[in-house]
Amino acid sequence: MPSIKFINELEKNHITSLYGLEKIIADDDDCEYLFEAANRVRQKFVKQEVHLKALIEISNICAKECFYCGLRSKNKGIKRYKMSAEEIVSRAKEAAMSGYKTVVMQSGESGAFKDDEICEIIREIKKFGVQITLSFGEKSFEQYRAYKKAGADRYLLRIETADRTLYKALHPNMSLKNRIKCLENLRNLGYETGSGLLVGLPGSSAKILARDLMFLKKYDFDMIGIGPFIPATNTPLEHSKAGGIKLALKANALTRLLLPKINIPATTAIETLDPNEGRKMALRSGANVIMPSITQSRYRDLYRLYPNKFCLKQSAAEIYDRFDEMLSVIGDKISLTNGNSVRFNQRRGL
Ligand code: 5AD
Ligand code: SF4
Repeated sequence: MPSIKFINELEKNHITSLYGLEKIIADDDDCEYLFEAANRVRQKFVKQEVHLKALIEISNICAKECFYCGLRSKNKGIKRYKMSAEEIVSRAKEAAMSGYKTVVMQSGESGAFKDDEICEIIREIKKFGVQITLSFGEKSFEQYRAYKKAGADRYLLRIETADRTLYKALHPNMSLKNRIKCLENLRNLGYETGSGLLVGLPGSSAKILARDLMFLKKYDFDMIGIGPFIPATNTPLEHSKAGGIKLALKANALTRLLLPKINIPATTAIETLDPNEGRKMALRSGANVIMPSITQSRYRDLYRLYPNKFCLKQSAAEIYDRFDEMLSVIGDKISLTNGNSVRFNQRRGL
């Protein structure tokens, strides 16, 4: 039982040494102990409530070339799409009417939408009384400010890894420095700021993951998503080894122990690796958010970051009911609050 004392320390103080984190990551014997500790911390700080957020994938056009991603610009094997403003707004309206308190808009990183267009869409969606989360990648301070002024509340930008060498190897024409700058800009503009990791990437290690988790702790993000790497067709990492669900669940649990009051989604990549149990396991090891895609079905399949990406085929309302039922079976319930993290509310003095 090499890592139990570090898990105990984390449950009590929400911090341990880099050495302790690395030991927990490398030790496959004490996983259940780790997951149970994360579950207790989840229940203590964010209760048995799960935020259900509606995800709309507004475009799969991307100018970047991240080595792991099926949407990278060099992949000519997928059909690209851009939803119209009317399609997006009507989808968001449907979500709001079905009970979702948050609409998340995500896209590849490109100029497919003009900033004015995005701002107009944000203003329209705000009329439905929902919170808006954006995930459009790296933008300038001025762009982030314009979206915020239009009414956006939150922004998701995963760091993926905070290891400079690994980051550079996987992201041509991008820099870790700029990514961190973007996250700082978002925080300074008053966004509820989310980040996260892609775990099990080729070239990563227990030591790198331990440092990545310490990075997240240091920046004290409001939301953190942890996804296992899944090799995607037509990418340079197509034949690499997948990240593995256990590693992702361990990173998920460690995130909850390190940052007890934040929001943590049970990610789609975890669900994809185990469509039956993945989500439940993530919710039982620290996660407290579910972000199902409610994108029109003709686009849903085209937002293929990696193969076999898990998605439900039903409408926004049907998906809401399905989760309502599924959560009651495991003793949780859908949160009726606006979806802010406890950490963000505390930061804001709410
Ligand atoms: N496997 C798992 N997650 C991936 N993402 C991109 N490609 C993959 C992949 N092959 C994730 C990245 C990105 C998010 C939108 O999708 O972490 O931040
Ligand atoms: Fe584009 Fe995001 Fe995929 Fe990178 S991870 S290629 S920025 S969609």
